[in-house]
Amino acid sequence: MKKLLLSTTLLSLLSGSVIAASAFTEAEDAVSYRQHSFQLIRHNMADVKDMLTGAVPFEASRLQKRADALATLTTLPWEAFTVPGADKASKDAKAEIWQNLQDFQSRGEQLAKDAKSLQSAAQTQDQTKVKAAFAAFAKNCKACHDKYKAD
Ligand code: HEC
Repeated sequence: MKKLLLSTTLLSLLSGSVIAASAFTEAEDAVSYRQHSFQLIRHNMADVKDMLTGAVPFEASRLQKRADALATLTTLPWEAFTVPGADKASKDAKAEIWQNLQDFQSRGEQLAKDAKSLQSAAQTQDQTKVKAAFAAFAKNCKACHDKYKAD
């Protein structure tokens, strides 16, 4: 009985993979993947901001953790914009993205690059450097949203 149950579970898992519904092949999952990536970026960024403005106490190790996360998270959303059908699956992503995909992707790369600089600045534990790197990093969000995100 247990065996039967196991093989049924395996079978359903396998048939799932035949449909190949992952964030890298299926438009709706791709939208979910990129939106969740953006949410995680937002949460990590907010904590850095709160530390820099004194809303929560500054802790070097906590800042480093957020900056390390941002360095990875900011590399994630972009490939989910190139999945077939991913241009039609969210009303928040403007059609202009796919008309200017190179510009859009290079803005994504810039964000990831600035996140790396923030990560390096965090390693110095010099708040002046962290603040400057954070300001450069934060600029990217609004600049891209103004052009490519509907509200
Ligand atoms: C290169 C362009 C670009 C950059 C840079 C960018 N975003 Fe976005 N962002 C988008 C687009 C496009 C969407 C809409 C995605 C969708 O709905 O498919 C979005 C959506 C979001 C969302 C909503 C996600 C959801 O749940 O629907 C949040 C939050 C967000 N971005 C935060 C940020 C933050 C914070 C930054 C900067 C650290 C940032 N974004 C940088 C393009 C960008």
